[in-house]
Amino acid sequence: MHTHLVKTIENVWENYQSKTITDADHEAVRSTLELLTRGEVRSAVRGEDGVWRAVEWVKRAVLLHFLITPSRIIDTGPLQFYDKVPLQVAWGERGVRVVPPTTVRYGSYVGRGVVLMPCFVNIGAWVGSGPMIDTWATVGSCAQVGERCHSRGGVGIGGVLEPIQASPVIIEDDVFVGARSEIAEGCVVRKGAVLAMGSYLSASTKIVDTTQGNKVTFGEIPAGAVVVPGSIPSADRTHSTYALIIKKYRDEKTDARTALNSILR
Ligand SMILES: CC(C)(COP(=O)(O)OP(=O)(O)OC[C@H]1O[C@@H](n2cnc3c(N)ncnc32)[C@H](O)[C@@H]1OP(=O)(O)O)[C@@H](O)C(=O)NCCC(=O)NCCS
Repeated sequence: MHTHLVKTIENVWENYQSKTITDADHEAVRSTLELLTRGEVRSAVRGEDGVWRAVEWVKRAVLLHFLITPSRIIDTGPLQFYDKVPLQVAWGERGVRVVPPTTVRYGSYVGRGVVLMPCFVNIGAWVGSGPMIDTWATVGSCAQVGERCHSRGGVGIGGVLEPIQASPVIIEDDVFVGARSEIAEGCVVRKGAVLAMGSYLSASTKIVDTTQGNKVTFGEIPAGAVVVPGSIPSADRTHSTYALIIKKYRDEKTDARTALNSILR
């Protein structure tokens, strides 16, 4: 699929320092961004083995856009911006509710029925259908947020554009991310997990599973885990380091506390 497009993007990527960028090159980059906007290509995909991998040609197209596109005034009526990537504006047909001053950049996809409280969705990102990206939450470039996920106020879902082969942050389906949490460095939150408010996850954050003899892992929150911020003592017991603690796996109480009032929808 998209063979010609992939070939053009790869060619421009390999030769952009020496070649003149043609109208056809511009068109290939623009077409890729349009496919991203429609949700027809993604910057990372989940393999049958459950591993998420970056789609390198798509990420290259996103980077090339920045290389070959000058900034220009973006007129939005009473508001004006100055940027290289236009904003998305036509939401009606997808049933997306957009609270101003939400910014969703062209080249990202937002699924049906999502409520976008004033938030920021960057280029290359993919957000599945409903329910909500809450106030001042950010979805970074190429980040993937699954179906029915809920990002509460101020959540930061980190983007990873470079290096090209690096997988972006992945939030699988039915995940709840509590207020002011931050997930970065290509970490993966598996299906249905719950991060309590103020949880910070980087590739170096120790994840301690109290349900499995305090086993320590990195980079991936297991499906259905309920994670809270905590700490773990150093090997020599001289200090403690921030860690995420898996207290339990999701139960009815968790479901009740993370449910969204349908009246607000
Ligand atoms: C994670 C959360 C949903 C609680 O889930 P729950 O299944 O009801 O969790 P429980 O109350 O059964 O707690 C389980 C354990 O985790 C601990 N815990 C729960 N939430 C915690 C938190 N936020 N910080 C630290 N520890 C927490 C409890 O103390 C308990 O520990 P224990 O087993 O040692 O007694 C809730 O804490 C939370 O973060 N809600 C989101 C709040 C939010 O973001 N609101 C939106 C504002 S915009």
